[in-house]
Amino acid sequence: MQSSKSLLIASPNKRLEGKVALVTGGARGIGECIARTFCKHGAKVVIGDILDELGLSVCDDIGSTMASYIHCDITQESHIGKAINATISKHGKLDIMVNNAAIIDDSKPSILDNEKSKFDKVIAVNLTGVFLGTKHAARVMIPARKGSIINIGSVCCSVGGVASHAYTSSKHGVLGLTKNVAAELGRYKIRVNCLSPYYIATVAAEDFFKLEEKEKEREKSKVYSNLEGVVHKSEDIAEAAIYLGSDESRYVSGHNLNVDGGFTAINPAFGLFSRL
Ligand SMILES: NC(=O)c1ccc[n+]([C@@H]2O[C@H](COP(=O)([O-])OP(=O)(O)OC[C@H]3O[C@@H](n4cnc5c(N)ncnc54)[C@H](O)[C@@H]3O)[C@@H](O)[C@H]2O)c1
Repeated sequence: MQSSKSLLIASPNKRLEGKVALVTGGARGIGECIARTFCKHGAKVVIGDILDELGLSVCDDIGSTMASYIHCDITQESHIGKAINATISKHGKLDIMVNNAAIIDDSKPSILDNEKSKFDKVIAVNLTGVFLGTKHAARVMIPARKGSIINIGSVCCSVGGVASHAYTSSKHGVLGLTKNVAAELGRYKIRVNCLSPYYIATVAAEDFFKLEEKEKEREKSKVYSNLEGVVHKSEDIAEAAIYLGSDESRYVSGHNLNVDGGFTAINPAFGLFSRL
């Protein structure tokens, strides 16, 4: 019988020691936090983004032994292909692919005001970009017969009424893609999971919710968060990404890990436990 000790593969401080990861959209926000946390835990990270100056400065700050940057627009298959190839050339393998880059558009109160071109743009980045990242990660993971693909989703993978039609459609699509690819790639021991945050005050989220002051942010978290007094941070997602990227989650695939303080599990409309 396998002892429980044999599952504790890495040291608690270096849970990704020896691993190589590519993080899209790692120049800022949640992706940056994932990249920094992965490096802290011993992984070599390649950041792919379109914000070159920011991405390069993040890598500079982390240190060139652990982190490197490549310009990669995830809507362009050639860019994704090059980013994966560059990772293999530099580090010889790809253990973890984090499809994190995404955009959010303005939420219009009426679908009649939604333009097709803007809808297409969100789908191109948030869904087609994840498809391309997954496809090219699989290209190098299949021969290696191992790997972990982590798609950053959202509470909008599971519920409606939070963000725009385009964003919600794209994130539901990401979850569908995650499950389908997990079904295909299991035979190669490649795990594919979705990791879904709730509201985190990044540049994109602040622009969307038009939050200017920290005070408003705290008010918002008080009203909508199920965990009283706990402010959701990028670090919560980075910690969960470490779990999904490490061998600790070796039997987890096709899963949507909601890191949302219970938001998607609870319908507060009935007010049974109302705190107001
Ligand atoms: N912040 C939140 O409240 C929240 C909640 C749920 C889910 N998410 C998800 O978390 C992820 C990160 O979001 P964030 O809040 O950190 O956003 P952000 O805008 O701060 O960061 C997104 C990064 O993706 C990059 N990017 C955008 N388009 C790209 C493209 N075509 N090619 C390559 N890179 C591109 C941006 O340059 C940026 O560095 C996204 O998938 C988002 O949907 C965020």
